[in-house]
Amino acid sequence: MEKSKEAKIKEIMKRKEEHIRICLEKHVESKAVSTLFEDVRLVNNSLPEMNFDEIDTSVNFLGHKFSAPIMVGAMTGGAELAKKINRNLAEACEELGLGMAVGSQRAALYDKILEETYSTARKHGPTIFLGANIGAAQLSKGLSMHDAKSLVEMLDADALYVHLNPTQEIVQPEGDPAYANVLSRISELAKNVDKPVVAKEVGCGISGEVAKKLEAAGVSAVEVAGTGGTSYSAVEYYRALEYGNREKATLGKLFWDWGIPTAAALIDVRRSVRIPVVSSGGLRNGLEVAKSMALGASLCAMAKPLLGPASDSGKSARMYLESVINGLKATMFLTGSRNIRELGKARYVITGELADWAKE
Ligand SMILES: Cc1cc2nc3c(=O)[nH]c(=O)nc-3n(C[C@H](O)[C@H](O)[C@H](O)COP(=O)(O)O)c2cc1C
Repeated sequence: MEKSKEAKIKEIMKRKEEHIRICLEKHVESKAVSTLFEDVRLVNNSLPEMNFDEIDTSVNFLGHKFSAPIMVGAMTGGAELAKKINRNLAEACEELGLGMAVGSQRAALYDKILEETYSTARKHGPTIFLGANIGAAQLSKGLSMHDAKSLVEMLDADALYVHLNPTQEIVQPEGDPAYANVLSRISELAKNVDKPVVAKEVGCGISGEVAKKLEAAGVSAVEVAGTGGTSYSAVEYYRALEYGNREKATLGKLFWDWGIPTAAALIDVRRSVRIPVVSSGGLRNGLEVAKSMALGASLCAMAKPLLGPASDSGKSARMYLESVINGLKATMFLTGSRNIRELGKARYVITGELADWAKE
């Protein structure tokens, strides 16, 4: 292996480990803003007219059955700890009938040796919905269709996620804000990869206008990944501090809370496209999952809350997900929703700042 390639791999592995460590140790969530799910009030139903155990939380997403509308958002791969996390997440999802996406597979394109830090998810989750993952900047810089297909094959994936992360690329010490021609490359991907392509953000939210362009480019679903949860500006701020990079640390601080609150992004995107919309970014419990479904989401994704449990064991990750499903079921009972279709029709009131965002 030539030296530059070896150095590149080491750099990527180090970065992956730093992301995990910082997310586990530091406060990396939005500070002065929120998802705005607190501005969605579901209306209590004192006469649910059913028993709790009749509730059916199952959904279909991109042709795959989920026992509940919950998946683990894209996080990691490309390092030893990442392999353990992906294995534990996959075990939990397999037991519960849920799904997950791995983090950017760019590292595995550099060196096949890293493939198993991602493919362990398929090994331990043989029947789960599993998403492959690559960054939009990679597309802009010329990712070949051959490589894109290999990302899917590596995992026998059910979909290919493309993450849009311009804020992160601006703030990250070694970031590369290369976003020219991304839309046409996404369109090329959608035509050439024989699995659905899903576009997602990483915590700054997708607007209705952008979602429309993505739909026209041929993506099969949009995951909003809005603001109010994990802030990548915060994560990169801490990395920049560690590297003594003052310029990037200043940018990280400036854009800490940048983005579209998740509930606002969900309403905007739901109104703008016909394809399935995934709610994500700061979802932390079953009530917020229920609110997302009432606002028209097809599925919900949660990332950082699973990082700690999955660094521990598959059982810890499963217990966290079970508590979210319990909260969802309780909300379904209290809104008189027998299944997710009925939850989608549950009455709600929008208040506060979200009412401003939701104005047509
Ligand atoms: C440690 C960590 C690594 C992540 N890496 C990726 C990634 O490689 N690709 C991606 O699409 N999103 C990545 N994300 C973003 C998440 O998928 C998600 O959009 C974001 O964290 C917001 O959701 P949350 O508030 O539930 O964490 C990462 C998140 C975390 C916490």
